Amino acid sequence: MAKVRVQSFGISIDGYGAGPNQDLLHPLGVRGPELMEWFFPTRMWQKMQGNGDGETGIDNEIAEQGFTGVGSWIIGRNMFGPVRGSWPDDSWKGWWGDEPPYHTPVFVLTHHPRRPLQMAGGTEFHFVTEGIDAALEQAIAAAGGGDVRIGGGVSTVRQYLGAALIDELHLALRPVLLGSGEELFRDLDLRALGYECEKTVAGERATHLFLRRRG
Ligand SMILES: NC(=O)c1ccc[n+]([C@@H]2O[C@H](COP(=O)([O-])OP(=O)(O)OC[C@H]3O[C@@H](n4cnc5c(N)ncnc54)[C@H](OP(=O)(O)O)[C@@H]3O)[C@@H](O)[C@H]2O)c1
Repeated sequence: MAKVRVQSFGISIDGYGAGPNQDLLHPLGVRGPELMEWFFPTRMWQKMQGNGDGETGIDNEIAEQGFTGVGSWIIGRNMFGPVRGSWPDDSWKGWWGDEPPYHTPVFVLTHHPRRPLQMAGGTEFHFVTEGIDAALEQAIAAAGGGDVRIGGGVSTVRQYLGAALIDELHLALRPVLLGSGEELFRDLDLRALGYECEKTVAGERATHLFLRRRG
């Protein structure tokens, strides 16, 4: 059966999934890239950047798994870009250039309506203003039997966790302290929500934690 998954979500020891003060120069917030320093060297990410090379190994294998079997994505408006409030125009089309790495429908949670965007390579951004349940319903319908990946950011993952709608959660725990930013587990009791840690895997630059919701 199709699953709702979070994959490759970088987190600091002190529980942050993004640094503070996100803006055009700091998509992940200040010091946020430290959360993804396990991911950036992988062959998967390097290939996405149009570079031939990159590291293979455990981190790369796990990063690749995140794209296998995914039929649609859900992301939050802050992950989509630095524009806040009403959309001034249609010029912002995401961080990822003309051909984003999704190649599926992507549902963007926002309070501000916007027309869908068709991108090269099959990515279609749909802007959903009716909340997380509506976005999930649309994402499941669009996934064609594939899994729905909740891409982030922090508030988006937190809301789906709080509603116990995520089946599997892969966190890449980085040995860094951010001190401030967006806290993934704020106000959540994961245990009461039915989550447990199924396994841990030591990667080259992160410890991979695989949580799942008990059936
Ligand atoms: N650690 C990782 O692996 C990882 C992965 C992905 C992203 N990130 C980072 O996470 C950060 C973004 O996280 P974030 O917590 O700031 O924001 P986010 O989850 O990306 O987006 C939050 C925004 O989405 C809209 N939204 C969220 N829930 C909604 C709902 N139920 N109904 C309607 N609109 C809703 C709201 O925007 P409006 O009200 O403005 O429309 C809200 O301010 C970025 O720095 C990104 O790079 C980290």
